[in-house]
Amino acid sequence: MNILVTGSGGQLGSEFQAVAATYPECIFFFYDHSNLDICDGPAVETAMETCRPDVVINCAAYTSVDNCEKNPVLAYSVNRDGAALLAENAKRHGTLLLHVSSYYVFDGCSGVPYKETDQPNPEGVYALSKFQGEELIRNSGASFLIVRAGWLYSSFGKNFVKTILRYSKERESIKVVFDRVGSPVYAGDFARAIISMLNHHKDGDPCAATYHLANEGVCSWYDFAESVVRFSGLSCKVLPVESSDFPVQGPRPWYSVLNNAAIKRDYGLEIPWWQDSLERLLLKNSNGLHYR
Ligand SMILES: NC(=O)c1ccc[n+]([C@@H]2O[C@H](COP(=O)([O-])OP(=O)(O)OC[C@H]3O[C@@H](n4cnc5c(N)ncnc54)[C@H](OP(=O)(O)O)[C@@H]3O)[C@@H](O)[C@H]2O)c1
Repeated sequence: MNILVTGSGGQLGSEFQAVAATYPECIFFFYDHSNLDICDGPAVETAMETCRPDVVINCAAYTSVDNCEKNPVLAYSVNRDGAALLAENAKRHGTLLLHVSSYYVFDGCSGVPYKETDQPNPEGVYALSKFQGEELIRNSGASFLIVRAGWLYSSFGKNFVKTILRYSKERESIKVVFDRVGSPVYAGDFARAIISMLNHHKDGDPCAATYHLANEGVCSWYDFAESVVRFSGLSCKVLPVESSDFPVQGPRPWYSVLNNAAIKRDYGLEIPWWQDSLERLLLKNSNGLHYR
């Protein structure tokens, strides 16, 4: 199976690169932002012609929620129009598009884990641009799988785990909000689950489905930070505070828990509990996470 990965320099794209060698049945073509802009039609066409992929995995996105508010033109161009351009190309080449989306499509007003059948209600530029990208893919006529991720973290790129590690090495205490809950997902688990899904679609039959994927379990940002500090053996104290103590630019959902039942049922996936994945990552990287 030939797999073209866009946005391969980001945290999720880097995890695909890290696990690629363990899937000898897959030939990966990794394109980071500098060698493929998903908004550049001729460049996307050239990449499709060169790689002849069976699958495109779209990890490219404009992901800073605050910057999306400041630069909506760029946000829509990448998260909506870039996704649509990949779908047009996928349709023309008979390629499956696996597009990564986000829990942000929901407004976070639920009190029960979000299912794929729940009505999205995106709020803010990042959320709207991601949701509109999804919709254009669904209406493109391409074969697609959309997988919405929970709170993604990795040893690569920028993320909450690395921020907490850095602060907790520098300070005696840190304040973290306890009134927002969600489902963390280690990007390495996410990447492996995606490849496992794709192995079910080797026959090239068309598909059109949306799934949710996060590690098992639920936590607040406070719980998440406290576990990062504890598993790293640091002595920094983690103090619970309310969101009102941390003004941010774009809206953030209060409740971001994703229900994994559909993806587990359809693909027979076994998904690790969030604390187990986090502890494994921090132990494996006890000499320091990647900074690039
Ligand atoms: N991070 C999270 O917590 C989270 C949660 C749920 C879902 N997601 C989704 O998961 C996916 C992967 O996110 P991530 O955390 O890996 O994000 P990331 O680390 O920000 O990586 C995104 C990559 O896309 C690249 N990119 C931006 N514009 C591009 C363009 N026009 N063409 C090609 N590449 C472009 C970026 O390159 P530059 O940095 O050079 O611009 C970056 O390398 C995204 O779809 C995101 O919406 C993320």
